[in-house]
Amino acid sequence: MSTLFRKSILAVTERGPVQSMFTKFRAGRAVARRFVAGETLDDAVQTARTLNQVGALVSLDHLGEHVNDAASAKSAKEDYLQILDRVSAEGLDANISIKLTQLGMAFDVDRTKAALDELAERAAGYGTTVTVDMEESEWTGTTIDIYEAVQRSKGNLGIAVQAYLFRTAADLSRLIDLGGHIRLCKGAYAEPPELAFQTKGDVDASFEHLLGTLMTAEQVRPAIATHDDRLIEKTYGLAATRQAPFEFQMLYGIRETMQREIVAKGYPLRVYVPYGSQWYPYLTRRLAERPANLMFFARALVGR
Ligand code: FDA
Repeated sequence: MSTLFRKSILAVTERGPVQSMFTKFRAGRAVARRFVAGETLDDAVQTARTLNQVGALVSLDHLGEHVNDAASAKSAKEDYLQILDRVSAEGLDANISIKLTQLGMAFDVDRTKAALDELAERAAGYGTTVTVDMEESEWTGTTIDIYEAVQRSKGNLGIAVQAYLFRTAADLSRLIDLGGHIRLCKGAYAEPPELAFQTKGDVDASFEHLLGTLMTAEQVRPAIATHDDRLIEKTYGLAATRQAPFEFQMLYGIRETMQREIVAKGYPLRVYVPYGSQWYPYLTRRLAERPANLMFFARALVGR
């Protein structure tokens, strides 16, 4: 989607009254349910179990970001430790995805590093991994620094990179040396022309270039995170000559028929399953990605 559309939608949805409209009315919450597994860990576990039963792997995201106080950061970390305990107890084939601003990156880098280390340690004990989501560009450098420090000592991490950022090709060579898994996505935020490609054509071309780099890097597990037919086809082509594992990744509630097709072809697919009460910012990004979703939202609100 063009950056202009994305910027306009994100600017509107950041306004308080618009947020209230979505979060207070049942229709708004019903719309969120298309993209979010529910508000509780039980909801997420149920969704993960169903996905595992049809052959998909899962990444659980307890929604939340931009935490500004130590108590909330600690509580986010404890929630994630609890998720890992539950993943193990339920025998789920799942890992976790985490935003570092949720662990306190905005005000305490050392605390964030220590929290990520603790999560990686707990995940390793259960034979699973932790993926670090990538947020707005102001956080890219710090996110990669923290990731590098913890990945060097623990080794069971992965990180998302965004094809729309000019810097990503350079970041990728640094990240590939660290092993782990690397999730390639287009990028979901509104970034300025000084830092990021602005048109779908340019972002897709960058994705394609980075895809080639990742799929020939045998020391990492590429996670190709897109719902785009053309890029999925390209990945099938590159997979034919790849010797090491890789996986596709898609978001809960998006292109479910395509998700089933990928599993039926025998490729690993991981579905990103967000849940929790802090779903509004996540929902606005899904809205800003696709004009057709606006109609979906409008219909739900008119019908309330
Ligand atoms: P594109 O937007 O071109 O869409 C291709 C097709 O997919 C559309 O034509 C439509 O059919 C379908 N589609 C895409 N988005 C849809 C939507 N919202 N609703 C309905 N249909 C939709 N971003 C980020 O900045 N940091 C991150 O850490 C992550 N993490 C992440 C994990 C996973 C598993 C995925 C799949 C994606 C992310 N993203 C992300 C989001 C990513 O950057 C991007 O915004 C979305 O995936 C949409 O881009 P596509 O590659 O799907 O292509």
